[in-house]
Amino acid sequence: MQPRFPPAARAALALVLAAPALAAQVDLGASQHGAASMKDQLAALAKLALPADGLVAPRGIDARVWTASIVPGQEPTAARVALGRALYFDPRLSKDGTVACATCHDVTRGFTDNRPVSEGIGGKLGRRNAPTTLNAALLTEQFWDGRATTVEHQAGMPILNPIEMGAQTEDEVVQRIAGAPEYRDGFQQAYGRAPNYADLRAAIGAFERTLIFLDAPFDRFLAGDPTALGTAERRGRELFDGKARCASCHPLNGASPLGTDNAYHNIGVAARDKDFEGLARSAQAALQQDDSEHALDQLALATDMSELGRFVVTKNRADIGAFKTEQLRNVGISAPYMHDGSLQTLWDVVDHYNKGGEDNAFLDGGIEALALTDAEVDDLVAFLFALTDVRLAEPNQRAQAKQKEQAAKTRPIKDPALAERRVLGFERRVLGTK
Ligand code: HEC
Ligand code: HEC
Repeated sequence: MQPRFPPAARAALALVLAAPALAAQVDLGASQHGAASMKDQLAALAKLALPADGLVAPRGIDARVWTASIVPGQEPTAARVALGRALYFDPRLSKDGTVACATCHDVTRGFTDNRPVSEGIGGKLGRRNAPTTLNAALLTEQFWDGRATTVEHQAGMPILNPIEMGAQTEDEVVQRIAGAPEYRDGFQQAYGRAPNYADLRAAIGAFERTLIFLDAPFDRFLAGDPTALGTAERRGRELFDGKARCASCHPLNGASPLGTDNAYHNIGVAARDKDFEGLARSAQAALQQDDSEHALDQLALATDMSELGRFVVTKNRADIGAFKTEQLRNVGISAPYMHDGSLQTLWDVVDHYNKGGEDNAFLDGGIEALALTDAEVDDLVAFLFALTDVRLAEPNQRAQAKQKEQAAKTRPIKDPALAERRVLGFERRVLGTK
């Protein structure tokens, strides 16, 4: 049994709440862009009983795999986790003091913002949907296109992105942070030196290493509790591994606990009428001018070339319109779905696969119409909701009820002419006709 308020959570709360300098500059009761207030988020976080440090492999993860994922020299000790936690909720990392990591990765919204695309400083909209920070530490690559590797690497980027947190230079951020005595102490305790940008991003990464949420009804079922999954969920699981072929890209087992192959596929999301060839030429020209990390980050978040996905990282034609296979953990509470947030419910997601995606020249060979019946679609959705950690069971139930109601009203993707499309698809593939 873990303590309700682990010492690191108390330390982080103290760091954020009790510091006079911070309290004067940051209104913890305010909410930005519809996110819950930082005060409410910290209270919700305390209830999740996170571990004080990220040194020990969490339940469900092999100790060797966990240790291998930690960057040498960046071990997530309790002092680093406490510091990173304070930084994660601190809007002072942004240019105008209004946007924190927690604005877009909100504790009360599945560590995402539940918006199609994110809104940063000055209300600027990006092109992509915010994935959850839960379990992100276990991904081999970060972002929909994999342009960052570890969480420690990733954390430095949104702070400097002009439409997210908008800081102009690393120095500017470090100076703002170093102005607060509690941060000077916090960095000293965590890293034995004054605040600097490399330690700042490492500390945020250390905190993210405590956000491992892999204890779902599905895991309890696998561990031998037959009552953990209902009959619909069990049927859904069989479809997932079998007829619906989800597991070919979303392997979900002991060796692959997140349900992602950590690879990139064009599954035909919002691909209709996209001039992929023209966009690819523009991207190549832009990256010839400047292919720095900063330029790539802006291109991915703020231009039409965003839709090229993995291509902007590899410049490989096969990666045009390909995005990272998203993890399926806690997927019940992270709507809307896909890189552009274009699908509202998990019913829409399964309808998308059932019709074989949006056809385009770069569509992955693994995407074909599935011919699932309505009952099978419902079972598959039930299974997806059984992948949410038991600590988040309550918001998961709420989301499931809400999505069910919405899906009963509208299923925009469900294709009434499914049968006809299947025949056309067959002709195209087998007979080679267009
Ligand atoms: C303005 C909203 C916004 C802010 C602020 C923000 N993020 Fe994100 N985050 C996003 C979006 C959108 C993406 C996906 C972008 C992409 O893939 O190109 C993302 C992606 C990520 C990912 C990758 C997860 C995955 O599954 O690949 C991590 C980790 C992450 N953010 C952590 C953070 C941290 C830490 C901070 C604070 C330093 C932060 N974010 C600030 C919106 C935001
Ligand atoms: C060919 C590989 C492939 C197959 C097969 C596949 N997926 Fe995916 N899945 C992906 C990729 C890639 C994405 C992200 C695509 C994007 O955003 O453009 C994704 C995204 C998702 C998402 C959205 C997650 C989020 O948080 O936004 C869900 C849910 C999902 N898949 C479930 C399924 C289910 C259920 C099946 C089986 C019916 C399935 N997938 C089959 C590759 C695949």
